[in-house]
Amino acid sequence: MQIPFFDLTRQLQNYNELYAAIQQVMQSGQFAGGEWVREFEKNFAAKLRLPFCIGTANGTDALYLIFKALQLPAGTEVVTPAWSCMPTAETISMAGYKPVFCDIDPEYMVLTAETVAQKITSRTRAVLAVHLYGQAAPVADLRQFCEAHNLYLIEDCAQAHLTLEKGKPVGTFGMAAAFSFYPTKNLGALGDAGCVVTANEQLAQRIRTLANHGSPPPEQYNYQTEGLNSRLDALQAAVLNTKLKRLDEFNNRRTHIALLYNKLLKDVADIKLPSARPEVQHTWHIYPIRTRYRDELKNHLQQNGIETRIHYPVALPLSQAYRHCSFSEYDFPVAACLAREVLSLPVFPELTEEEAEYVAGKVIGYFRQQR
Ligand SMILES: Cc1ncc(COP(=O)(O)O)c(C=O)c1O
Repeated sequence: MQIPFFDLTRQLQNYNELYAAIQQVMQSGQFAGGEWVREFEKNFAAKLRLPFCIGTANGTDALYLIFKALQLPAGTEVVTPAWSCMPTAETISMAGYKPVFCDIDPEYMVLTAETVAQKITSRTRAVLAVHLYGQAAPVADLRQFCEAHNLYLIEDCAQAHLTLEKGKPVGTFGMAAAFSFYPTKNLGALGDAGCVVTANEQLAQRIRTLANHGSPPPEQYNYQTEGLNSRLDALQAAVLNTKLKRLDEFNNRRTHIALLYNKLLKDVADIKLPSARPEVQHTWHIYPIRTRYRDELKNHLQQNGIETRIHYPVALPLSQAYRHCSFSEYDFPVAACLAREVLSLPVFPELTEEEAEYVAGKVIGYFRQQR
């Protein structure tokens, strides 16, 4: 059996509503902005029960635009998790601030109020809570913490579309949140796309202006500031609007597969399975197991036709990009350990139970026979 890590073509087969939506955009001749974008922004905001959604070209721009629109002094420190991918650090620098890395909780692999507290200085003005893998970072706690310390809480929901913390969707706890709709995400476009959501009207207006070269839309040449071009294009908006109707179904399928892995793998002594924080409805963007035998297991699965990935092979502050900071593994012991141990098994809505059982069987077989 050949099992891909992710395969979008399965979803696209017979997705007639999606093809119809694309055709409608093509026939309308409106490819940038317009009704498709407005409609998606309205529907996505409604899904999160927030007043404002601003479509962007991708999730990285969404994060950058939030930081830029906060208009904090140059050199401001923003605390961000050491266990994440580059957009959650580089966008802080791009906006003129300093990313300050904190370690994460070893059980749930997300930052916490305690790990953030260790990094707060008089220059800290914001915290970026990254909801990694579909897990929710403890945003209710983090919100309290940020309020007590007069900090902005920003959420990165690129991997957590409709993940719930205490019954409330992530992305609704902080000042603003960024989403990515990269094709592999739980709500994925057929190319790059992203958005910002917020309940703050002034911030929403500033982000729209920045994303339109500094001119408040719909005006084109009324430049109030320098900005950038970060448009959600109409074709992607129509795709997202169509797929949004099935997002709950996609998330439920991912959850079904994740719980099946949990059940099948629960007795394997040498691996640690991922789990949801209490009171979190996880959306399983990624299913990361942990084992000391990660590289050997990955090879074994590859030999049996199973594609896996590593999210992530290096703790962000220990990557080449931050060599000048001279961090060591002792600065971020949890993140450094995860980089050696995590392995992501295939999980996507169209993966069949039979395939998940095959994957689990090969994992179990490896530990039975090889060790
Ligand atoms: C946690 C996280 N933040 C931000 C991003 C950036 O999103 P995009 O790839 O759409 O720019 C990603 C996507 O890879 C992500 O996983």
